[in-house]
Amino acid sequence: MRKNIVAGNWKMNNNLQEGLNLAKELQQALAGKTVNCDVVICTPFIHLASIAKEITTVGLGAQNCADKVSGAYTGEVSAAMIASTGAQYVIIGHSERRAYYGETNAILKEKVLLALANHLTPIFCIGEVLAEREAGKQNKVVETQIRESLFHLSAKDFGKIVLAYEPVWAIGTGVTATSDQAQEMHAFIRKTIAEKYGSAVAGETSILYGGSCNASNAKELFANPDVDGGLIGGASLSVDKFMPIVEAF
Ligand code: PGA
Repeated sequence: MRKNIVAGNWKMNNNLQEGLNLAKELQQALAGKTVNCDVVICTPFIHLASIAKEITTVGLGAQNCADKVSGAYTGEVSAAMIASTGAQYVIIGHSERRAYYGETNAILKEKVLLALANHLTPIFCIGEVLAEREAGKQNKVVETQIRESLFHLSAKDFGKIVLAYEPVWAIGTGVTATSDQAQEMHAFIRKTIAEKYGSAVAGETSILYGGSCNASNAKELFANPDVDGGLIGGASLSVDKFMPIVEAF
């Protein structure tokens, strides 16, 4: 059975001390609780090594990695460096990276390969902007993102990917996709994977929803058969807001 996952995406928030405190607080809140999902936090790079020492039951990830192995790429952080901190995940292709840093499907393809080569689990983000949805092109956009960045993978390697459907119009806006919109897209994504890799691989792929997911809508979103958890931005920055989402399963 595929895993349910609730992953926090801290984005560019929290200095090191604040981040350490938040991670420890989350670990404490989870202590002794049985939850029906894996819990992951994706922090800024500089937090990873310190937080890795503090958390045991919570997974840890970065929010990006370089598209090159190593060398003269000032300011970049490689997948191998991320793995060396003890982190296990990396978000790849977040819409903010695509929009503000020009990350194309071809660049993201390289990042996915390097993440996998370093035994990191990519949380690969896909999703349409508002104009694309209004034009009825959301399925085509998402299918192209998946095909151009992931469909070169073997079935074995594709099986290591976690997907996150994040409609760009829902990210940080307070406007969540309706439960029906989320289910419809997640089912389409699973069908697209099944056509390429077969229904067994598709059935094992965790597909998270992201975009203004919070304590009040998580339960309804996660109740959908093809929604396997969430990628949570704003509401992952406090334990009080994040825990009810974790407990929505
Ligand atoms: P949000 O962000 O929950 O603040 O909308 C989600 C994301 O960008 O991953």
